[in-house]
Amino acid sequence: MKHNGSDIAAPSLAIAYHSGFGHTASLAAAVAAGAAEAGADVRMIAVDRMGETDWDVLDAADGIVFGSATYMGNVSAAFQSFAEQTGRRCIEGTWRDKVAAGFTNSGAKSGDKLNTLLSLAVFAAQHHMHWVNLGLPPGWNSSTSGEDDLNRLGFFIGAGAQTDVDANSDQVHPSDVRTCRHLGWRVAHVTRQLNVGRAASPVASAPGASSAPAH
Ligand SMILES: Cc1cc2nc3c(=O)[nH]c(=O)nc-3n(C[C@H](O)[C@H](O)[C@H](O)COP(=O)(O)O)c2cc1C
Repeated sequence: MKHNGSDIAAPSLAIAYHSGFGHTASLAAAVAAGAAEAGADVRMIAVDRMGETDWDVLDAADGIVFGSATYMGNVSAAFQSFAEQTGRRCIEGTWRDKVAAGFTNSGAKSGDKLNTLLSLAVFAAQHHMHWVNLGLPPGWNSSTSGEDDLNRLGFFIGAGAQTDVDANSDQVHPSDVRTCRHLGWRVAHVTRQLNVGRAASPVASAPGASSAPAH
């Protein structure tokens, strides 16, 4: 039987983010917009203001895009607090084989934010999630390119954005907005591909943690 995915429900994605001053929140909205554009059902969850239903949304989602402002060269304390609250889910494999991706925003052009993206990827790996990279070539890396390029800061593992520390929350860089929008779009597509594959073949369905080979 051929599967073109037309009978597969829209992928459900959650954007779980922390933003102290609103910059990363603006980028989270861009990720959500890109995912919705690709046909996903999207929910945004501020991880420092979570209610019980938000946990249910995360547990039910096909994929979760994690976002944190870069504070002290890493995810914020609020994001790490959220991460540590997922310990039981990590042990029980609640999020196993969901799709994951990540984005961050810093004040400096670099600001050591690669470390933040790596922390997000490690967090996803600890949950046995499938990490989706940014899928864009680096921008702003030649004499003919510029800061309005998509992926202007040249990240691969996720979306890396930069906002001047004295900017308002609606003054995030337009290139970073488009880059985050692309990330959401890509994650939605990959999630849909995975869902179609799982529906087409039981082999593609996720094995439970206990049925995985021990070698
Ligand atoms: C406690 C703290 C630590 C920060 N550490 C860094 C850092 O390590 N690197 C950097 O480039 N910017 C750093 N910044 C600047 C923020 O990353 C920047 O202002 C960002 O836009 C904040 O995002 P938000 O509005 O989503 O909180 C720091 C800001 C704060 C408040």
